Amino acid sequence: MLLIAIVVLLLTSWFHWRQRDRRAAVANLPGPFCLPLVGAWHLAINMNPKTLIERSQKYFRQLGKLQRAWVLNRLLIVSGDVEFNEQLMSSQEHLVKHPVYKLLGQWLGNGLLLSDGKLWRQRRKIITPTFHFSILEQFLEVFDQQSSVCVQRLEQRATGEIFDVYPYVCLAALDIISETAMGTKVNAQQAENTPYANAVTECTALMAWRLMSVIQQKELLFTLTHPHLKLRQMQLIRIMHEFTAQVIKQRRQALEAMQVAGTEQLEAEEVGGKRRMVLLDVLLQARVDGRALRDEEICEEVDTLMFEGHDTTTSAISFCLWCISRHPEVQAKMLAEILEVLGSDRSRAISMRDLAQLKYVECVIKESLRRYPPLALIGRKLQTDFKYTHSKFGAGVIPAGSEICMIIYGMHNDPDYFPEPHLFKPERHESSERSSTNFSYAPFSAGPRNCVGQKYALLEIKMMLAKIVREYELLPLGEPVQPVVNIVLRSDTGFQMGMRKRGQQ
Ligand code: HEM
Repeated sequence: MLLIAIVVLLLTSWFHWRQRDRRAAVANLPGPFCLPLVGAWHLAINMNPKTLIERSQKYFRQLGKLQRAWVLNRLLIVSGDVEFNEQLMSSQEHLVKHPVYKLLGQWLGNGLLLSDGKLWRQRRKIITPTFHFSILEQFLEVFDQQSSVCVQRLEQRATGEIFDVYPYVCLAALDIISETAMGTKVNAQQAENTPYANAVTECTALMAWRLMSVIQQKELLFTLTHPHLKLRQMQLIRIMHEFTAQVIKQRRQALEAMQVAGTEQLEAEEVGGKRRMVLLDVLLQARVDGRALRDEEICEEVDTLMFEGHDTTTSAISFCLWCISRHPEVQAKMLAEILEVLGSDRSRAISMRDLAQLKYVECVIKESLRRYPPLALIGRKLQTDFKYTHSKFGAGVIPAGSEICMIIYGMHNDPDYFPEPHLFKPERHESSERSSTNFSYAPFSAGPRNCVGQKYALLEIKMMLAKIVREYELLPLGEPVQPVVNIVLRSDTGFQMGMRKRGQQ
């Protein structure tokens, strides 16, 4: 016993001695009680997808919005502090993602979300123009058509009874991203049994589950404890990679054929008599250091767009529909605007101009993204020291090697920036004085690593909401949402509501 006590004492002293500089650097920041050696491990193991939001909010109230915690020899900075996050988000230097993101690496490879350094810069340069206004304009038709399919599918639920809207939104978002990223219809909404679409949703769910468990994040422990799931994961990733590889091959061949035929550039593809460019086409034509991207590189980016581009928008639309169902006055105002701008003719194609005129709908979306940001937290790992200044803590340094978790949910629900933050008030975003341009409101993050798909997402969400609300009255039925962090924000109780076709009692 005595020997064990001496060993623990020696180890503790050695640990503290080794960390003395890092400890001194963050001594100005508050933090939870940390046990010798293990640090705040007791708090970390109590965190899970269900408790994360509520507990982080509780610790912010108790200890402040900027905190440090030790878990073994890892220094974690948890920040819902706008001043601090603004400096980190806008930094050109601290761009490396938290190591936990690497879990997605087997699926997404070195795609834009996970890569860093020179590779990330090159890819970012290529991908940013893929979301140019002129390309997004061509996607409207897809948003419009697939939203109509969603509206049709919801008809069977327009009985005034409780149901969960999430699966309907998810398949629509998957159809939209497949068609706009790859130019391929996967018919997730119509056929419901398409191997690729199923693999995307199943793999996303599996990754979300793993990401939230400290044990399952480790590949070896996951393989040992759940060998059947490991095999399933490999199978799902293979299905997705084979599918994307096949699509890329076909479009590359089409591009080469057009070049041989004398067309200077693959500008677009024949779709229903119109010519439309898809995100993959931009990648196929891109040049890095004078060469075209290889198929494997393109595959990583397409997989990343597929992943980032459907789960986030599904979360956003589902939370937004739920909020609308609970606020009849908001719904009535939205409907009036939608009818005024779009009219009631369902066959009329919705244009970019129409969407731009839906100002109140935009405020509703912004408010829902504030209240329920789909990516509620984002993480970085510092490669070099991060120097910051703070009105309360003064000038400080977070040492290299620290892990930083920026809680967007915390920023968005901070009463200093959003009075009565728990209230759903789209009007907050009506005034230009509102701080929606500063860093207190950052559903798409901000700075160099912000979301490339922001404009795309807002158009898609607007289209989907406008079409659903025009057709159906959303009823406040069922349980309230219970936000859980499963990579993106979801609800443990689903997104329960009722629907009734407008004009019917
Ligand atoms: C409401 C919907 C969306 C939200 C709230 C959202 C939010 C975010 C956030 C917060 C980040 C930063 C992540 C981090 O720093 O770890 C991000 C990055 C990214 N998003 Fe989105 N996103 C949405 C939709 C989309 C869509 C539709 C696409 C593509 C079609 C997309 C593609 C990406 C990519 C590729 C990145 C990585 C950018 C980089 O690291 O350079 N996102 N998104």
